[in-house]
Amino acid sequence: MAFIADALSRIKPSATIAVSQKARELKAAGRDIIGLGAGEPDMDTPDNIKKAAIDAIMRGETKYTPISGIQPLREAIAAKFKRENGLDYKASQTIVSTGGKHVLFNAFMATLNAGDEVVVPTPYWVSYPEMVLLCGGTPVFAETTIETSFKLSAEALEKAITPKTKWFIFNSPSNPSGAAYSKAELKALTDVLVRHPHVWVLTDDMYEHLLYGNIEYFTPAQVEPALYERTLTVNGVSKAYAMTGWRIGYAAGSEKLIKAMDMVQGQQTSGACSIAQWAAVEALNGTQAFIPERRKIFEGRRDLIVGMLNQSNGLKCPVPEGAFYVYPSCAGTIGKTAPSGRKLESDVDFVTELLEAEGVAVVQGSAFGLGPNFRISYATSTEALEEAGRRIQRFCGSLR
Ligand SMILES: Cc1ncc(COP(=O)(O)O)c(C=O)c1O
Repeated sequence: MAFIADALSRIKPSATIAVSQKARELKAAGRDIIGLGAGEPDMDTPDNIKKAAIDAIMRGETKYTPISGIQPLREAIAAKFKRENGLDYKASQTIVSTGGKHVLFNAFMATLNAGDEVVVPTPYWVSYPEMVLLCGGTPVFAETTIETSFKLSAEALEKAITPKTKWFIFNSPSNPSGAAYSKAELKALTDVLVRHPHVWVLTDDMYEHLLYGNIEYFTPAQVEPALYERTLTVNGVSKAYAMTGWRIGYAAGSEKLIKAMDMVQGQQTSGACSIAQWAAVEALNGTQAFIPERRKIFEGRRDLIVGMLNQSNGLKCPVPEGAFYVYPSCAGTIGKTAPSGRKLESDVDFVTELLEAEGVAVVQGSAFGLGPNFRISYATSTEALEEAGRRIQRFCGSLR
């Protein structure tokens, strides 16, 4: 009898964490490595947020909190949804968990039965299918293409929905493609969802504040109020407030679903870290002034790296509207030979040889369900990004 649960045989480790780990190891061994694998802002958490955490410690806010979160944070979340998204949620319709990842996991744990299907557009964030599988569900992939800048069409969504579909996962701006949907593009999808009342919508709005140019942000329940009752709107402080290590994510939805997620969390981690929750209150209620400043920095880096990639032999990169990722196609390099003498047969070969030859760590597109592509996180210093761009160009130029 196997000791490890069968459920674990259904999943694989996170490819993005694996790349960061490999880059760290090579660095420790003395190699000159530029890591473009990690999905976290290189900036620090703003001081007003750090201070709120220190104050919370000094006030003795160091005990267990209610499972779904401290009341001031749940109220701040409800106020955020009203202020930024025009959505009316009561504090009792919100839940705080240990990162956005935990929110998503709890939602699946609380709702999925064996055989339930979850529609996941490709390319997807690595954890979506794995979480669905771990919770006993079945991911059903709905493909996008580089020609439509990795945005899902209404037809592809319609085709993926079956009587067994429980959830549709929506993520805009997207990890890994950076694609962000306009209001009209989103409306085309919500029109499909309105016609399928058994399908719930899980919208992962984690990159809401990282949107470039003049694009305005919209979330599904805002664009289509008819979906309000069956939408779980997920967000968090990790990306917008550079708080990845604090581990606070949150969601709002129907009271019935939130109660079920509270039940899961209550038998698992209980309330999220009390100190981090007080920091998140300040993040949501305090000054938002640094968000547009940081957005400008990211936008400049996006333009820099997209320009450099599109001047690399064999690469093609659409200009993404948001997040801090680009997702170039490396189809034009497949079949060529790397300086090591190895023939590139896949995007895994491309990223492995790039790391070997030039010390640039990126993540293969096959980890996100669509390739041959690779993902670059440009949440790194402009200097490092520029150097990485030069090395990628040199590598692509060296392929024969
Ligand atoms: C699309 C997406 N959703 C959710 C998360 C999880 O964020 P957190 O750090 O809050 O768990 C990430 C983090 O990489 C992400 O990229």
